[in-house]
Amino acid sequence: MASVLVLYFTRGGHTAKIANAIAARLTSQGHHCDCFNINGLTQRIDWDKYDLVNFGACVLYGTYDKSVFTFIEQHQTQLAAVANSFFCVNVVARKPEKRIPENNKYLQKFLALSPWQPQDVKIIAGKVDYPSWPWLDSLAIRFIMKMTDGPTDPKAVIDYTDWQDVDKYADSLLSLIKR
Ligand SMILES: Cc1cc2nc3c(=O)[nH]c(=O)nc-3n(C[C@H](O)[C@H](O)[C@H](O)COP(=O)(O)O)c2cc1C
Repeated sequence: MASVLVLYFTRGGHTAKIANAIAARLTSQGHHCDCFNINGLTQRIDWDKYDLVNFGACVLYGTYDKSVFTFIEQHQTQLAAVANSFFCVNVVARKPEKRIPENNKYLQKFLALSPWQPQDVKIIAGKVDYPSWPWLDSLAIRFIMKMTDGPTDPKAVIDYTDWQDVDKYADSLLSLIKR
């Protein structure tokens, strides 16, 4: 049985849903899993407890929230001390070729900016949810979508996440742990 820590940054809740799905998958297989929002931590993390750390963050306007890098700068030693993987959530990845790390500029940006270089990476397509996004964000993303052949209907709510692939990713994490 492995002990796994899943950490995430979310703005609208979709990255949280993915992180919780990963944790639920591992828990259903008998592993111990803790799943925390990096901006909602109420206790200190007991890093020594874990065999594996999984960290996920969504892309906002071509980059990541500042809190993602602040957290990584503070904890880069602990993140690198055990088996680890990073997943990046964005809607450009609705196109399959953009789920290849070399083809996804946001993943490349993460690797260029992060002092922690994850052992393993994954790109996951996120969710378009115009009705729940602030008006200006919705307008800006619809404009970008218009230029990239994406959905522009202001009522569009589209979950692009391949949930079976999220389960497969969760399963693959265990192989990172050195026995
Ligand atoms: C304000 C805003 C900016 C975004 N910028 C980008 C972007 O530059 N590129 C991209 O592929 N997706 C972008 N997205 C899509 C998000 O990455 C996607 O909706 C993700 O599922 C959001 O996760 P969350 O619900 O955990 O915040 C943006 C979404 C919002 C709301």
